[in-house]
Amino acid sequence: MCCSFSLSLPLLLLLLLLISLPSIPSVSTNEHAKKQQPNKNIQPDNMDPSELETLFKIMDTMSSDQNWRVSYPNPCTIPYQLGNLKNLAGLDLSYNSLTGSIPDTIGHLGMLQKLDFSSNLLTGSIPDSIEKLNSLAFLALSNNKLRSKFPKGLAKLGSLQYFIMDDNPMFIPLPVEFGQLQKLQELRLANSGYSGTIPPSFSHLMSLSTLSLQNNRLTGEIPDDFGSLPHIYHLNLSRNLLGGVVPFNSSFLKRLGKNLDLSGNPGLCLSPSEAYGVKIGVGVCGSNKTSSIIKPLKKSEAPSGFSKSFLLFGALGVLAMHQIFSSV
Ligand SMILES: *[C@@H]1O[C@H](CO)[C@@H](O)[C@H](O)[C@H]1NC(C)=O
Ligand SMILES: *[C@@H]1O[C@H](CO)[C@@H](O)[C@H](O)[C@H]1NC(C)=O
Ligand SMILES: *[C@@H]1O[C@H](CO)[C@@H](O)[C@H](O)[C@H]1NC(C)=O
Repeated sequence: MCCSFSLSLPLLLLLLLLISLPSIPSVSTNEHAKKQQPNKNIQPDNMDPSELETLFKIMDTMSSDQNWRVSYPNPCTIPYQLGNLKNLAGLDLSYNSLTGSIPDTIGHLGMLQKLDFSSNLLTGSIPDSIEKLNSLAFLALSNNKLRSKFPKGLAKLGSLQYFIMDDNPMFIPLPVEFGQLQKLQELRLANSGYSGTIPPSFSHLMSLSTLSLQNNRLTGEIPDDFGSLPHIYHLNLSRNLLGGVVPFNSSFLKRLGKNLDLSGNPGLCLSPSEAYGVKIGVGVCGSNKTSSIIKPLKKSEAPSGFSKSFLLFGALGVLAMHQIFSSV
């Protein structure tokens, strides 16, 4: 597999554009509209000559022109010379079939605010040097082949607001250190084989609005304090192995509405007092020890309206029994 010229040309233009920007505009998930805006500043006049040279080297590296390629046998990796672009504020190399690992020299880009390597074929792990990027606000690494470890100094990324890293074969427990990233607004780690429990430190993330941990192998209970995350707006914990009573009260359940997804966790159940009128894909806890948990049906088992209403009747039945027993 190799990156193609047709892909790398816009990539390089983008690289140029980003370098010439005095500072990147406010980071949002809706960058595309902004990228389209013409930028008068496009000529790299104000660049250090050595940076310009590096940039051309990088262009050489990624070009499919055979003459250019002589000194760079693999044009599809991220060149280590990238580290020379000391004033780079944003770098988007997403969707380029890049292979190899993320070079250590990435840690030299002290001005970097936005880094997007999503949807490539990158291997290895995130280099430890990334801890030096203390201006980094947006980091996207989704859909690669990164594995097994996070950088030791993860907690030093104090400016980080977006950490988007779905779809990588990580297969490790979630690092506690995420809980120290006070500015974090979005944390997306879905579909990556994470195991163990959700660290209780995650409930210290006072700016967090989106947490996506679906499709992993997470066990244990949902941390008690999640219900008091002040800005949480979208929470997807579906398709894990979580268990116990859902620690959310009815006002929390109402606030998140359909942006809360806990389905596909057979061990989870909702306390009957909070369950009325909510549909979050979780059954109601039994009021007594015998069959204390009504297992929520998997989607594949409940495709029709019939079985859904059956489940609802089951839930109402338990609720009614609970009330009969408690009024006796
Ligand atoms: C629900 O839980 C939150 C957070 O723990 C709390 O602030 C709020 O007062 C609770 N609301 C109700 C109605 O119990
Ligand atoms: C949660 O993730 C699952 C699996 O990716 C997806 O199908 C579902 O729509 C998501 N739910 C919400 C509320 O985001
Ligand atoms: C469960 O039900 C039995 C009677 O069926 C009752 O004696 C017991 O107190 C109940 N336990 C709880 C926890 O409600």
